[in-house]
Amino acid sequence: MAATSRTSLTTLSFLISLSTIPRTLTSPLIQELNQPPPPDFAAAVAANCARDPTLRYCNSTSSDLVNIYKSTVVARHLCAESGNPDCNLSFPAINLRSRPKIAPLYLSFAFFWSYCPSSVLAIDLANNSLRGAFPSSVLCCTQIRSLDLSHNALAGDVPFDLLASLANLSFLNLSYNDFSESREGSIGLFERFNSSSFIRSGLSPEDHRHEFEITATILLLMVVLATVVAVFGVIVWLLLRRPHQFTAAVLKKATDGFAEDNVVMNTEKEDVYLGKLRNGVQVEVHVQKWKDSMEIDREFGEEFRVLVQLRHKNLVKVIGWCERRELVAFVMEIAHVCSVEEWLKDSPPWKERLKVLMGVINGICYLEEQWPHVGYDLKTKSLLLTEDIEALISKFRVGNPDSESKKVHKLALLILELVANKRQQEAATEAGESGYIKWVKMHYPVHFKKVIDEKMKLTSCSLEQVKKITDIAFESISVPAEALPSMSQVSRRLRKTCAAGAVHSHHQALNYKHSRSGLHAERARHVER
Ligand SMILES: *[C@@H]1O[C@H](CO)[C@@H](O)[C@H](O)[C@H]1NC(C)=O
Ligand SMILES: *[C@@H]1O[C@H](CO)[C@@H](O)[C@H](O)[C@H]1NC(C)=O
Ligand SMILES: *[C@@H]1O[C@H](CO)[C@@H](O)[C@H](O)[C@H]1NC(C)=O
Ligand SMILES: *[C@@H]1O[C@H](CO)[C@@H](O)[C@H](O)[C@H]1NC(C)=O
Ligand SMILES: *[C@@H]1O[C@H](CO)[C@@H](O)[C@H](O)[C@H]1NC(C)=O
Ligand SMILES: *[C@@H]1O[C@H](CO)[C@@H](O)[C@H](O)[C@H]1NC(C)=O
Repeated sequence: MAATSRTSLTTLSFLISLSTIPRTLTSPLIQELNQPPPPDFAAAVAANCARDPTLRYCNSTSSDLVNIYKSTVVARHLCAESGNPDCNLSFPAINLRSRPKIAPLYLSFAFFWSYCPSSVLAIDLANNSLRGAFPSSVLCCTQIRSLDLSHNALAGDVPFDLLASLANLSFLNLSYNDFSESREGSIGLFERFNSSSFIRSGLSPEDHRHEFEITATILLLMVVLATVVAVFGVIVWLLLRRPHQFTAAVLKKATDGFAEDNVVMNTEKEDVYLGKLRNGVQVEVHVQKWKDSMEIDREFGEEFRVLVQLRHKNLVKVIGWCERRELVAFVMEIAHVCSVEEWLKDSPPWKERLKVLMGVINGICYLEEQWPHVGYDLKTKSLLLTEDIEALISKFRVGNPDSESKKVHKLALLILELVANKRQQEAATEAGESGYIKWVKMHYPVHFKKVIDEKMKLTSCSLEQVKKITDIAFESISVPAEALPSMSQVSRRLRKTCAAGAVHSHHQALNYKHSRSGLHAERARHVER
């Protein structure tokens, strides 16, 4: 049987409802499509699939055998209609160019296209007056290299995505149709095929290309602009940033929400909290209580703008400040373990006192030379001490320094206090500073040993040094203000005298009984009083 022998072909087919087939259909094709598949068709399909499993119909179930059969019938006819040289061996091209009578019919065989023979490499449906939407079913032949749909009356959207997914498509002609302009996914195709593929097709690749170029240019410009803005922003930020200014929130976090437990001191003017910044630095946060006046606020910020710049081993490091409506505070690094006043209670040895004095003088010289407008306090209460017995000046005043004589006077008092270690007791019994000076003058220089703290256990050599230094201090509290030497002269003399005593020996680390927390506990007790 002829039908049986044909099933051995690799092309496909069967029964199609007559209603879908135009009457013009050539009778052999209609007749064949109306016949059932021959009995051995399933076996033939199986054999073909065993030989070449990539054939499209190899995937389908046996229930689709009828459609597979019909597709082989159409394939055989279409191969012949396309003028392929030997359809018994191969079916390389579907060529229905200028065949307006049969092209629409073959296009309508959905079962054929869904099992599109994988040997087909070219599809030409040009010049057929095809109407309606883009014939997407032809794109089931995903292996094709060439597709010509030119000179038709196709309309609507072109399935750009599907077309773009045809990896081997190297020729495309959509010219002379009425497709509608669409931007979605078109750019890729317009880059792959030049304008001669889209002549009067309704699509305008040149516009798109142009558009693409404009878009690219705009994007490039925006990138350049964004970069310029970013660089400018960074520069402005660098210029305007305020690394030393804290927000209330940051300080709140640093002090656990200004927790009671972190209070180290309450005074009339400020509450002092222990805190820890995000970078791990231990700080004291001094919250100011006079935050009602805007004028003071302004001065406050200006003052700390200066103080954060002070950098010396013997000055407390001011880290920053906060001046907000809700919080006015400044922040200092904690490098100290106690105040000089507290330290003196343990009657430290002379060479340690000398080191503290040297440190204070070094701090003073730095301030005098580089920050003449910054005033400082030399009370033993406000001088702090690090673990290595390095003195830290901790109280400053910007813009209103003491007079030379007052500064010298303060330094003299500090020296006398370091030497005598008596101020506490004296201040308690007599009228503070003047009482203290009176007491010194009573004994010095005649009974000068009474002025010197006997707990220091001085050698004759160091006693000599103590005396020389005390002389300088005593002179400063004895002569009238106008006869006083300048601060720099005094410091120079003191430095010379101190150096003569050669404090080169390594200093023991401060063996102070208060640990840091002990110190704060002590301060807290002061607060309670
Ligand atoms: C067969 O079907 C599977 C899954 O449905 C698919 O991954 C595979 O590509 C198909 N093979 C062919 C030759 O169509
Ligand atoms: C193709 O096969 C058919 C039947 O098997 C045969 O009649 C025909 O001559 C063959 N054509 C060619 C070109 O070999
Ligand atoms: C289109 O087909 C007609 C016949 O249907 C033919 O005369 C004409 O030359 C063809 N044009 C092209 C461009 O193939
Ligand atoms: C494209 O062609 C190559 C080589 O001709 C072939 O191996 C590949 O399977 C083809 N791709 C598709 C999607 O048909
Ligand atoms: C378009 O590409 C084809 C090859 O695909 C080439 O022959 C033709 O000259 C090109 N036309 C233009 C206008 O670039
Ligand atoms: C597409 O077809 C038109 C009209 O036949 C022709 O002018 C054009 O060159 C063709 N494009 C390509 C890429 O062959």
